[in-house]
Amino acid sequence: MTKAEKSWERRLAGEPDELMVDFVESLSIDKRLYKYDIVGSIAHAQMLAEQKLITKNELKQIKSGLIEIGEEIASGRFNFKKEYEDIHMAIEAALVVKTGQAGKKLHTGRSRNDQVATDVRLWMRDRIEILQAKITLLQKALVKLAGRHTEDVMPAYTHLQRAQPIVIAAYLLSFAEQLERDFVRLRNCSALLNVSPLGSGAVAGSTLALDRESTARQLGFSGISYNSIDAVSDRDFCAEFIFDCALIATHLSRLAEDWILYSSNEFAFVKIDDAYCTSSSMMPQKRNPDVLELIRGKTGHVYGSLMATLTILKGQPSGYNRDMQEDKRHIFAADDTVDACLDMACAVVSHAKFNTKRIAAGLDEGFLDATALAEYLVGKGVPFREAHGIVGSLVADCEKRSKRLAELVLEEFQEYSASIEADVYEHLGAACVAGKYVTEGSAGPAQAKGQVAYWNKHLGQR
Ligand code: ARG
Repeated sequence: MTKAEKSWERRLAGEPDELMVDFVESLSIDKRLYKYDIVGSIAHAQMLAEQKLITKNELKQIKSGLIEIGEEIASGRFNFKKEYEDIHMAIEAALVVKTGQAGKKLHTGRSRNDQVATDVRLWMRDRIEILQAKITLLQKALVKLAGRHTEDVMPAYTHLQRAQPIVIAAYLLSFAEQLERDFVRLRNCSALLNVSPLGSGAVAGSTLALDRESTARQLGFSGISYNSIDAVSDRDFCAEFIFDCALIATHLSRLAEDWILYSSNEFAFVKIDDAYCTSSSMMPQKRNPDVLELIRGKTGHVYGSLMATLTILKGQPSGYNRDMQEDKRHIFAADDTVDACLDMACAVVSHAKFNTKRIAAGLDEGFLDATALAEYLVGKGVPFREAHGIVGSLVADCEKRSKRLAELVLEEFQEYSASIEADVYEHLGAACVAGKYVTEGSAGPAQAKGQVAYWNKHLGQR
């Protein structure tokens, strides 16, 4: 490429150093923005024609040239030359080759600084919709599985120690709640980023009479940004998007961690379908949950992208700086990782089976009914702190004698508290206790059924 072709380098003497060309290029990464660059350019050209800054004929040439370039890129026929630095220059240069004078007018009143800010926003708006759809699919898979287990009791854990009885549905729906907040966070992120930077130029706007509302309208933005300096230097939305991805990854990682444990021989609560297990190159008996471990492991990349993006932003002086170019590898990486993890989690959940027999067989261990017994005593007028102490002593005694609370005879109970009566047996045993939860949002069968109905309706509307 000669100097004459790269008008933006006429200011500089000699040829650029090859080393420098490789170092500054972002084309290898930002080429995935090409569709957005093209629709953004078409909107800009349309506006230039409306403002009589280019002719109708020039607009026509620019539009059909850009559409052709889009087709060439989509079909793999486009020649990406790193000398063009980025996707913006690569497309513009190709347009000039196709249209000559008309193509040279496209960049009127525009800078790559407002152009890239526009492209990234358009890309992100679309990606958010796709991630939201994938979140919804995973929620639906969880709700479907929950629907099969609204009566089946399992232990809930705190500190990974047996805590209280819950139904399996309630456990599963706890993830539907987390994912719902992820969905809403993405919606908020999209609403905040959805303003058009076009017309902000390099940093100060333009002396040309650009119609910013026109480009904003054409591109489906809800409005325009109101400060040109902010518009070219704001990447808050990138950090926010990655943060939202990081929280999705966190939630998936916690689900994965649970199921890695739950699919072990020690728990054997859940069976991951063979299609999503791997084996060992040495130990022939193995069924390993590598997929879940990778979901957990990949979370690290997303956190890395978040830290990288925040760090890229923190020291920049006001206005656009080339540091900003480094944002893209991180938004793309976070998006790729979370997209793949959502797909994988959805597949695993859709094909998983809970081993209800095995779970039920172990429910007598761990005194899951102890808290309910203390609440029974509260019902008999015993202050909770006293009730807590009474049940604590009972449990310690039972543990020594390898007995369950329900196995004690009434006289044994009454040695600890005269308030315990014959009706105590209706309040013991994991399944019995789960059926007695009355508080809204509890983890019992009645509440779980209500929640399954709620989610089916709510998600059905999406
Ligand atoms: N490739 C650049 C980026 O991603 C585009 C803007 C470059 N602007 C400039 N004045 N060098 O941020």
